Amino acid sequence: MSEDPAVYQVIPGTATVGFDAERVRRDFPILHQQVNGHPLVYLDNAATTQKPESVIQAMVDYYRRDNANVHRGAHALSDRATGAFEGARRKVANFLNAPDARQILWTRGTSEAINLVAASWGRSQLQPGDRILVSAMEHHSNIVPWQMVAAERGATVEAIPVDTTGTLDLQALQGMLDARVRMVAVGHVSNALGTINPVAEIARMAHAAGALVFVDGAQAIAHWPVDVQALDCDFYSFSAHKLFGPTGIGVLYGRRTVLEAMPPYQGGGEMIESVSFAGTTYNQLPYKFEAGTPDIAGAVGLGAAIDYVNSLDREGAARHEEALLVYAQKKAQAVSGLTLVGTAHHKTGVMSFNLDGVHPADLGTLLDQQGVAVRTGNHCAQPIMDQYRIPGTVRASFSFYNTFDDVDRLFAALEKARQFLQ
Ligand code: ALA
Repeated sequence: MSEDPAVYQVIPGTATVGFDAERVRRDFPILHQQVNGHPLVYLDNAATTQKPESVIQAMVDYYRRDNANVHRGAHALSDRATGAFEGARRKVANFLNAPDARQILWTRGTSEAINLVAASWGRSQLQPGDRILVSAMEHHSNIVPWQMVAAERGATVEAIPVDTTGTLDLQALQGMLDARVRMVAVGHVSNALGTINPVAEIARMAHAAGALVFVDGAQAIAHWPVDVQALDCDFYSFSAHKLFGPTGIGVLYGRRTVLEAMPPYQGGGEMIESVSFAGTTYNQLPYKFEAGTPDIAGAVGLGAAIDYVNSLDREGAARHEEALLVYAQKKAQAVSGLTLVGTAHHKTGVMSFNLDGVHPADLGTLLDQQGVAVRTGNHCAQPIMDQYRIPGTVRASFSFYNTFDDVDRLFAALEKARQFLQ
């Protein structure tokens, strides 16, 4: 991704040429409100994205018209619910370019997807002395589940170094890879820094050493099309709520041979083929990993979110987000005492920063008083904050429905906050 604003034909104060953010904003009812007496500026998209009317309506319609349990009932509503639920799984498979919808497992979100693989694959495969590599900029969700299973199995979790700009050190990774490395788990995009990691290259390197690759796609999925076959990763996960869908549901894609060899994660209904006290046999993919009644309305909502995203000019949306980031980072450089945290060359729409002498939490509160929503703190990425010797940052994260005016409002609010604090 280029950092040259000219490439994106940015016209501050208006939309990026070729993408009409003002029109798209109209699809998101929540954006049109006053917060603390000011029009809302929502810049917390890395925490969760807002929902278009079509997603909200699809979930309401499902509950009003079709609600029933799936794969079970011999009646019309159950057929409809099952059709919508499995239809959503096929939409996800197409969206990720997965070879087969049976490789798409529903989870509660990215965290559960990682926990599923750590528990199922990790417990059954890891031997004492095995190594799991994660990047030093990972979210806690892509560290702690591996630490838990590593402690149980006598394996280790080691961090691939990250430099001062927030760029992963691929040479160091190459040096760390050996036959004891069984899994390399990396975020596609860092939630705290915005760095885009070269996951296809990482997969090539890891596979050459005989390791599997897990990509946490939570922060990438909303920003550009993801093709799991092109990435050649063994696992890819994301959460629906970061893709303009509902909370409480997410996706784990897995390589078929790997998923087939993995034992179930949880026991219950749906995941079995037959149950007896003499012994129980398990269902096929994907149901082997889906015990209990799933989040059917959530799957319907995610399906509608994918339809919505597919209806957009995705290239234009990505260009617009990049232009917002470039514009914001340029403005940031002109603010005295402001330090950007995360300046990798390949970045997506996350601007993390600190103002000299101001605690991020205080700044967040003062911005909120002016209607500007950001996240503050360590962003569940404590190791990288420790490496940079900071308690946290203020993070503004962009989506395609943000405008250059939102960026201007952020900086105007920052200036006011600074005056208040002096
Ligand atoms: N992981 C989410 C974030 O970065 C919640 O804000």
